[in-house]
Amino acid sequence: MRSVWLDTDAGFDDWLTMLMLGVHPDLRWLGVSVVAGNAPLPVTLANALRIRHHYQLRVPIFAGRPSPLNAPLQTAEYVLGPRGMRTAGSYLPDVASSPDGDDAVAAMLDALNRSPEPVTVIAIGPLTNVASVLKAQPSIVSRIEELVFMGGSTDRGNHTPAAEFNICVDPEAADIVCQTPGLKRRMFGLNVCRQVLLERQHVEAVQAWSGERARWLADHFDGYQRIRSADGVVPMPLYDPVVTAWLSDPDLFTFQPARVDVEVEGRLTRGMTVCDFRVGPSRAANVEVAMTADGAAVIEAVLQAARKHC
Ligand code: RIB
Ligand code: CA
Repeated sequence: MRSVWLDTDAGFDDWLTMLMLGVHPDLRWLGVSVVAGNAPLPVTLANALRIRHHYQLRVPIFAGRPSPLNAPLQTAEYVLGPRGMRTAGSYLPDVASSPDGDDAVAAMLDALNRSPEPVTVIAIGPLTNVASVLKAQPSIVSRIEELVFMGGSTDRGNHTPAAEFNICVDPEAADIVCQTPGLKRRMFGLNVCRQVLLERQHVEAVQAWSGERARWLADHFDGYQRIRSADGVVPMPLYDPVVTAWLSDPDLFTFQPARVDVEVEGRLTRGMTVCDFRVGPSRAANVEVAMTADGAAVIEAVLQAARKHC
């Protein structure tokens, strides 16, 4: 039984990740910390609370940091809209529930320190909360089994030509995460997510499910899948759920050790994850970088998990 903590900027791919965690048979899901990213914190927090309520997830949710360590907040509203999640129709209805606390960093530290076993931390948003935890108590690394994060890229970016969104929103936080000694890190970057492609056939499969939970999902699958082309002809990579697909079946992926550093100065490259695979006795790796994925199997795992909630 693995203990996990999720840090998220609750958008649509984050939603799918939460659904996968909710049905994973062998996980002790300790909590959720919410961070600004896809949208400002009030929106990502409201999204997380809606997802928990409507899909009956049993996990405490805490409000985290509303802005990056050392930069103005950038969000993905320009692509995803004001709720940080595109939809082709319905919206997740509002809920009256409140978070279980307004200091996610303290809550995460408490959970990690109390856990009888080291905890796998899953980060699928900007790394502001995670870096704040590491800064607050550097010795916490002994309570972290592994930090598994969706972010960065071994090649091109998506928010800028050089930088992936989660890293680009808070490069200083990502730099702390990559530099912290004694922390085991596993990175799922754009390079591997681009092998996991959502197509119209997947949207149509979800549209065939019945019930309002299925309809909310289908409308958001439809809106998300059309991000690259209004008619959905251009497949759309699926990002965050690759992490939970790996948790369920590590054999779907291959990894390579690398020295990963985050550019925090570059005028054109700020937020870039510079991945150096020339590692060995004289140059230690600090990250296991996902290089290949069985994309079809990952999508199937996502749909199977989502189906169990509808
Ligand atoms: O670049 C993709 C990442 O940015 C995903 O985590 C998505 O949810 C957004 O946070
Ligand atoms: Ca995310």
